[in-house]
Amino acid sequence: GKVRVPTNVVSSICDDRGEEPTYHGVTMSTLITGDNNVGDVISLLWFKRQLPKYASRFIEMCIMLCADHGPCVSGAHNTIVTSRAGKDLVSCLVSGLLTIGPRFGGAIDDAARYFQDACDRQLDPDDFVEDMKKQGIRVPGIGHRIKSKDNRDKRVELLQVYARRHFPATKYLDYAVRVERYTLTKAANLVMNVDGCIGALFLDLLYSSSMFSPAEIQNIIKIGYLNGLFVLARSIGLIGHALDQKRLQQPLYRHPWDAVLYLTPT
Ligand code: ACO
Ligand code: LMR
Repeated sequence: GKVRVPTNVVSSICDDRGEEPTYHGVTMSTLITGDNNVGDVISLLWFKRQLPKYASRFIEMCIMLCADHGPCVSGAHNTIVTSRAGKDLVSCLVSGLLTIGPRFGGAIDDAARYFQDACDRQLDPDDFVEDMKKQGIRVPGIGHRIKSKDNRDKRVELLQVYARRHFPATKYLDYAVRVERYTLTKAANLVMNVDGCIGALFLDLLYSSSMFSPAEIQNIIKIGYLNGLFVLARSIGLIGHALDQKRLQQPLYRHPWDAVLYLTPT
């Protein structure tokens, strides 16, 4: 009989073999002619399904709102320094991307994990924060270098307003807001940040959309899809910064001596 040649790679999100490439079975023409956005493309390629319009619009909003946050944040700073060192676009981009992690932009998955665990266990938000403190873990999704109680993050407000208007439920967001209410009694900069807001709202989206089984949601959270939203979004801004430096013909960057505290023997 016929012997099947063993495959090297298994892939389940797209197909380029036919007349038209497809994203999870949806042809390019269908995508382009319909009322679709980049959120729909992410729905198909990451979540392997077409999500309701309010959900793909939410994903698109996350991308738009996280695309940039000025030249001073760690990612943009790295990209700017790399661009000024004369490096190519990809090097500038990845040097910025490499700063994304638990402190900067990469706290979304952990925020979702911790908020879900605490909320599902019906842990009082104050106790949750105190437990985290005892364990020496900063609450992912809480805290900001420049945003505070009296200088809120507009992105967080915009996402919350959208979700409250369009999501069937906002249970996890409501929990995160209660966490924030408590952390703000400790320090003014312990606001819910954009990572925390996206983490909580994505839980709400996944659970309330009826599009995912509980096992699928657990796998999404376990694998960690959500930091990808920040990585993708911020790539837009980082590319902008890399090109900006080249357009402005900025010279090699050298950090000023007076901005460094030299703790060396004299
Ligand atoms: N949970 C609990 N306590 C906190 C938290 C937090 N998330 N953040 C700060 N604190 C408290 C701690 O007591 C901290 O003292 P420690 O250094 O002994 O732990 C104290 O506040 C002082 O911290 P700050 O100097 O005010 O914090 P900093 O400005 O250095 O950090 C940061 C800001 C990195 C965002 C921090 O709040 C944090 O680690 N948050 C959790 C990770 C996170 O959500 N990152 C995403 C930020 S948004 C974005 O990048 C797009
Ligand atoms: C960002 O989006 O880059 C941030 O919220 C971090 C910051 O310090 O502004």
